[in-house]
Amino acid sequence: MDKDFIRKHWYAYIYEQQVIQADEVNFILSIVGNKPQNILEVACGGGRIAVPLALAGHKVTGFDIDEYMLEKIAAKAKGLSNISFYKADAVLHDWGKDFDVVILAGNILLNIESELPYEQAQELFIKKAAASVKQNGYMYLDFDCYERPDQASNKKQEWVCFEGTDDLGTYGKYIVISGDYSNQTHIDKSYRRYEIIPKNGEMFSFETTSIKHFPTFKQVKMWLDNAGWEIIHLYGDYQKKPMDEKVIGNRAIIWAKKS
Ligand SMILES: C[S@@+](CC[C@H](N)C(=O)[O-])C[C@H]1O[C@@H](n2cnc3c(N)ncnc32)[C@H](O)[C@@H]1O
Repeated sequence: MDKDFIRKHWYAYIYEQQVIQADEVNFILSIVGNKPQNILEVACGGGRIAVPLALAGHKVTGFDIDEYMLEKIAAKAKGLSNISFYKADAVLHDWGKDFDVVILAGNILLNIESELPYEQAQELFIKKAAASVKQNGYMYLDFDCYERPDQASNKKQEWVCFEGTDDLGTYGKYIVISGDYSNQTHIDKSYRRYEIIPKNGEMFSFETTSIKHFPTFKQVKMWLDNAGWEIIHLYGDYQKKPMDEKVIGNRAIIWAKKS
C-alpha cells in the first residue's frame, strides 16, 4: 500500500468517526422539512448529511473531490435508491440545475480545495449554488464567522485536530500549526502535519500548507445579494442563537431563497 493511500484512507475514516455534529444534521433535517425535495449536496464528504436526508425520504445527489470520503457514503447508502453520488471538483464541474435545495454544509466556505484565489472560490460557490436551484429554491449555508483579533499574534500554536486508529490498523495524528493570520486581508496561513504509523510500524509524516480566507458576514452578504439569494433565516448556532461575529466560534447559519 502506498503512503498516499494509507494517509487519505486514515483521514476519511477518522473524519467520519470524529466529526458527527448531530445538532447540525438535525437542524438541516428540520429546516428542509418533511415534504420530499430534490436536494444537491456539494462537497458531501462521507455522507454525514446526505445519507440522513435520503433516509428522511428526500432525493439526494452528492459530489465530492475526495474518493476516500465517497467510499464512506457507498457503504452507508447500500439499499437506498434515492441517493446518488459521484466524484467531481466543485470549482471546475457543472453542478446541474433545477434542484429544490442546495446544501453547502460542514464549513465548506473555509474548506475549499482549489487553485483559485480563496475569495474567488468562495464567491464562485455561492454563484454556482444559485445556478443549481430552480426559481424560489433554497440554500443551506454555514461557516465559521467571527472576528479573530488574537489570531494575528504570529505565535505558532500547535494542536491535534484528529487522532486515532482506522479499520486497517493505521494509527495517526492530524496536527494543525497556526500562527500567521492578517486582520487586514483576513488571510490565514497555517500548516498541517500528519504523523502516521501503519500496521507494519514504519512511521512516516506528511506536511502541507493551508492558505484560507476568512470572509466577514458583510462580504458573504454581498456575494449572496449579487447572486440573487435572499436570507430567510440567519442564526449563530444550531440552537438558533442570534448571529454575532464578536463571539468566538460563532457560525453564520443561513437559509436563503433564490429570488
Ligand atoms: C469539512 S468536509 C465537509 C463534508 C460534508 N459536507 C459534511 O458536512 O460532513 C469538506 C469536504 O469538502 C470537500 N471539498 C473540498 N474542496 C472541494 C472541491 N473543490 N470540490 C469538491 N469537494 C471539495 C472535501 O473533499 C471534504 O469532503
